[in-house]
This record gives sequence, structure tokens and C-alpha cells, in this order.
Amino acid sequence: MEDLNKEIAEDEGFDLKNINSVSEETAQKAAKMMETYLGQDPDTQEALEFLCLAEGAEVTHYEVLSSVTKEVKSRKFGNKVRGILKEEQNHLETCTKLAKQNISKE
Ligand SMILES: [Fe+2]
Repeated sequence: MEDLNKEIAEDEGFDLKNINSVSEETAQKAAKMMETYLGQDPDTQEALEFLCLAEGAEVTHYEVLSSVTKEVKSRKFGNKVRGILKEEQNHLETCTKLAKQNISKE
């Protein structure tokens, strides 16, 4: 997976170092958001709903990226982004289902 990213980045002239740096910064921001959202003693429903929020953000990110792939010459890049988008949509669907199941138990 990482090799494919590097290969695509090189083919397209992307700055892989910058991509990795932005990715790390985003992960740190997400960790802070999680701490703020969940607080010290989150219950299961809060945790599941935060997970839904995070998955929703991932779906949005890959939807936007998918719209950009039309301008990129690499077919591998477009296929990879669409594959990840499908995975993220499945994650969101699963999280939503779990949150609904959990709230109906309470
Ligand atoms: Fe995900």
C-alpha cells in the first residue's frame, strides 16, 4: 500500500514529504478533537457517535479527493481513492448501525 502511494506520488509529481507532514498534523488535530469530545468518562453512545463523526469526515475527505482524481493522469490513483471511499462508506454505515443498536438497548 505504502509503495503504491510512493509510486503514484512520484508519477504525478506530488510532494510525498508534504503529504506525510499534513497527514501527521491532521492526525494530531483529530486526537485533540477526540479528547475534547469524549472528555474524561465517555459512555458507549458518546464513543460510538464520535466514531460516526470521524468516519463521516473520512467519507467527505475521500468524496472530495475522488472529484480531484479526474484531473490526475494515473488510473491507479483514481482506483485507489474510489476503493478507499467505498471502505470509508462501509465504516460509516457500520458505525451508524452500531450507534442505533446501542441507543435502542438503553
Ligand atoms: Fe474509516
